[in-house]
Amino acid sequence: MELSIPLVDLKAQYRTIQPAIDEAIQRVLASANFIMGSEVAAFEEAFARYCGATHCVGVSSGTAALELTLRAYGIGPGDEVITVAHTFIATAEAISAVGARPVFVDIDPATYTLDPDCLAAAITPATRAVIPVHIYGQPADMTRINAIAREHHLVVIEDAAQAHGATWAGTPAGHLGHAACFSFYPGKNLGAYGDAGAVVTDDPAVAEAVRLLRNHGRHSKYIHEQKGFGHRLDALQAAILRAKLPYLDRWTAARRRLAARYTALLADSSLALPAEAPDAASAWHLYVVRSEQRDELLAFLNAHGVAAGIHYPVPLHLQPAYADLGYGPGDLPVTEAVAATCLSLPLYPELCDEQQDRVVELLYAFEAEREQGNPG
Ligand SMILES: Cc1ncc(COP(=O)(O)O)c(C=O)c1O
Repeated sequence: MELSIPLVDLKAQYRTIQPAIDEAIQRVLASANFIMGSEVAAFEEAFARYCGATHCVGVSSGTAALELTLRAYGIGPGDEVITVAHTFIATAEAISAVGARPVFVDIDPATYTLDPDCLAAAITPATRAVIPVHIYGQPADMTRINAIAREHHLVVIEDAAQAHGATWAGTPAGHLGHAACFSFYPGKNLGAYGDAGAVVTDDPAVAEAVRLLRNHGRHSKYIHEQKGFGHRLDALQAAILRAKLPYLDRWTAARRRLAARYTALLADSSLALPAEAPDAASAWHLYVVRSEQRDELLAFLNAHGVAAGIHYPVPLHLQPAYADLGYGPGDLPVTEAVAATCLSLPLYPELCDEQQDRVVELLYAFEAEREQGNPG
């Protein structure tokens, strides 16, 4: 059965911007310039400006952005990089890919972002960097994280894959650490029509290093100054992203309005609702509630034609892929509690109030049904 309210609706978005997208694609096809070139440079300039940063280097994905940034800082075997386990696995895979060791720390129970106290406690002489993840679109506590990092000479790399358009204390995500990594995976707040990503930084040496690494270690066609990678942003995706960028602020405003509306409408429910830190303006990539009956609630919503998601059901420290690190259940109690109860509700700029009302109605209907089934 086709779900009548999806988690995200990229077809609806395309309908609102079709002329701009089609024009961008046609322009690239007519130029037959598909690799690097002016489209990539123009998007990089526009996105750096959007983030308030000096440099943006387009790459092939958010995963590549993270890996190349770590390499640009010379992080590798013998180094530890502190991050969270409540994230998509790419955050940690990038650390593993450069040969460093991911060290997972717990999250704040109110915001679900990296807990600065846990960061401070996890630093060892081998710690080189911290990757706070702006999960669900809300920046981590960058004031405290940066202060701790300064004291211990750590590199701060934002995982801003979910946070285009968010701010912390008025500063945009992407300009809150030494470098920031964005994903433009199609469902992200700024999404390409395929894989794409970017590294944003004020540091010219880091930008230069990522530029070399993404394109086989070369500036000119035949001279490879070092061994690099094929991790370029392609021109079609760059043109699509540049066509979409002017819409990002209004999409973020629509997400913020819908998130506030969920919060008001669900105030009388027994769900734990997401909180915004006083310094944060979340980009609301996801609106995530928590329920002790999460799996039943998800099944109930699906049965009534509403999609919902779980981001993420198994934290990274308990994934088979990271069994070698030796973590076990109970090591990250807040992370594990959130993973067991979190549920992402439909949220995208084109979601209309009637659709949102239907989701809310079902959430209350589930609670009423439970109360009837379990008197007392
Ligand atoms: C928090 C986070 N980090 C990294 C990534 C990796 O980005 P990509 O899928 O573009 O490689 C994603 C998205 O999938 C993400 O949500």
